[in-house]
Amino acid sequence: MQIAIDGPASAGKSTVAKLVASKLNYVYCDTGAMYRVVTLMALRRGVAADDAESVTALLDDIDIEFVPSAEGQLVHMNGTDVTLAIRQEDVTNNVSSVSAIPAVRARLTKLQRDIAAKGNIVMDGRDIGTTVLPDAELKVFMVASVEERARRRFLDNQQKGIDVSQAVLEKEIAERDRKDSSRAVSPLKQAADAIKLDTTHLSIDEVVTKIIALYDERAAK
Ligand code: DC
Repeated sequence: MQIAIDGPASAGKSTVAKLVASKLNYVYCDTGAMYRVVTLMALRRGVAADDAESVTALLDDIDIEFVPSAEGQLVHMNGTDVTLAIRQEDVTNNVSSVSAIPAVRARLTKLQRDIAAKGNIVMDGRDIGTTVLPDAELKVFMVASVEERARRRFLDNQQKGIDVSQAVLEKEIAERDRKDSSRAVSPLKQAADAIKLDTTHLSIDEVVTKIIALYDERAAK
């Protein structure tokens, strides 16, 4: 079975998707991490995130791997652990430009479908229900207010020692929403058959419970 979880930045998708996958013993695939790896490589090579031709040329030099570990799933770029590096602010603020490049999307979409073809999967991102896995049995579109998402990212950042004010985070999140929703290829959009879940006033556990209930419903059919 395929479970697609989409939604805007910081709506809690990856936290929830990881827990759902672990409860069901499914593989978890964080597609945002893949766009982040390409962005990190561009920054390290001094390539502008909106230089479509040069970013596309980097794709042949990038090998992305998800590696299970005792601390959770790690992200490797060419054999090196970049799990933390891809969460830094410079990557976050450039990833929307990289992910708007059609050739980057085409390549990563193929990789994501190859991963999903191996078995039961929970995949999170922006276009999983609409483009990557249009036949997924369960599609969830998670949303939350910009204020709440900035608050969550702020708390998250504090734990990582990243110091950015909540007001700046609100602006960055709103800007990323705008870019992700307005790009020409596979914009952030709720699939017609996805179930919308507003998590603004829900705890992580409540969201996970709701998704597992939806899964049970689908599995029973
Ligand atoms: O979920 P995230 O914040 O790690 O995603 C990083 C960026 O990658 C996000 O701004 C949009 C892009 N993205 C995408 O375009 N398509 C996906 N399936 C996943 C992420």
